[in-house]
Amino acid sequence: MTHSVSLKPHNTFGLDHTCRELIAVKTTGELISCCLALYQAKEPMLLLGSGSNVIFCDDFEGTVVLVQTRGIEVATIEGYHLLSVAAGEDWHELICFCLEQGIAGLENLALVPGKVGAAPIQNIGAYGVELNDICDWVEYLDLSSGRLIRLNAPDCQFAYRDSIFKQQLLGSAVITQVGFKLAKAWQPKLDYGPLKALKNTNVTPKNVFDCICQTRMAKLPDPKTMGNAGSFFKNPVITNEQFSVLVDKFPSMVGYPQGMIHTKLAAGWLIEAAGLKGVQIGGAAVHKNQALVLINKDDATSDDILALAKHIVDCVESLFGVKLEAEPRLIAATGERSL
Ligand code: FAD
Ligand code: EPU
Repeated sequence: MTHSVSLKPHNTFGLDHTCRELIAVKTTGELISCCLALYQAKEPMLLLGSGSNVIFCDDFEGTVVLVQTRGIEVATIEGYHLLSVAAGEDWHELICFCLEQGIAGLENLALVPGKVGAAPIQNIGAYGVELNDICDWVEYLDLSSGRLIRLNAPDCQFAYRDSIFKQQLLGSAVITQVGFKLAKAWQPKLDYGPLKALKNTNVTPKNVFDCICQTRMAKLPDPKTMGNAGSFFKNPVITNEQFSVLVDKFPSMVGYPQGMIHTKLAAGWLIEAAGLKGVQIGGAAVHKNQALVLINKDDATSDDILALAKHIVDCVESLFGVKLEAEPRLIAATGERSL
């Protein structure tokens, strides 16, 4: 345990804020006892995996718990591989491990940064697969009762970048373990963008994995060289009627059907069409290749990022009447805040 610690190495945006104390937990037992002690002491507490979906807006006046628990257990039942994975395992390394074991189904989600325990929280998704497609259950510590609870996937209220952990269980659940159920009979998901080129070929899980890795490396800045938190905004979901009005006015607007009555707009398109690509405030900028990604171009402060984000929200709203919402979690001095 240390006092007044820099959070710079613990957030992929590279923001230079501090916390009062930082505790790295290596076992599930330590994770449970540490979180319960902090909760009972009413100490502001922040769980952190790899810090790839947080924006520190201030110094954190509390304790950050770094989840570094390890362990992957594999079992098989008829037709399926069952995995039970500790919250602190690295997401991408889990996919590599599975491929080495001949277990497929996670490869569309290759190179999504972060730890396994954070993946259910916003139901990570990329290239046609979301966590809820492969998740069997999520186990969490209920801070108010001190009990471990296992929720089956249908009870996790998974939706686009959303789950029960961002709603009813916000602030009261510490994810300890995630279960996956992966079919032995692999069904490749090849409908999204560059994956279509693999249709009607003898495609293997490794081919899909390689295609995803190449695509992501070409499109998204690597946080090791350019601080960022992935997509800064969620793709807004509007009704089909609202979409048809907008697309009459802006014929090249990009939208994808989301269920029967909604359309998901590409926020990157909206931001680019508003002329904001490359725009910079202080050290924070809109990425030139991917307008949905804000980058730490030049020692950005959290005020720079928040000012840039608000400017984007205002411009997009006044042009298209659509309000963008931040995707990463904005962390203030004692807890979460909104934009
Ligand atoms: P953190 O940022 O450490 O934490 C995120 C939130 O979860 C925080 O509120 C934290 O308090 C909470 N939390 C973390 N662990 C626990 C736990 N065990 N129990 C309870 N709460 C916890 N996301 C996608 O969905 N798809 C993408 O394609 C994608 N691409 C990305 C690309 C880049 C370059 C970057 C930087 C990010 C991208 N993201 C993407 C976002 C990010 O990778 C995911 O949200 C990831 O799941 C975050 O994991 P983490 O361990 O870094 O979480
Ligand atoms: N677009 C533009 N200009 C831009 C960026 C995108 O016009 O600057 C257009 C593209 O041409 C395309 C559409 O927007 O027609 C969608 O772009 P892309 O396929 O790159 O996906 P995205 O909507 O920008 C989403 C996720 C990503 C995920 C990819 C791939 C959200 C908020 N983002 O990005 O997730 O990796 O799809 O599935 O849903 C993340 O959440 O951090 C993240 C990176």
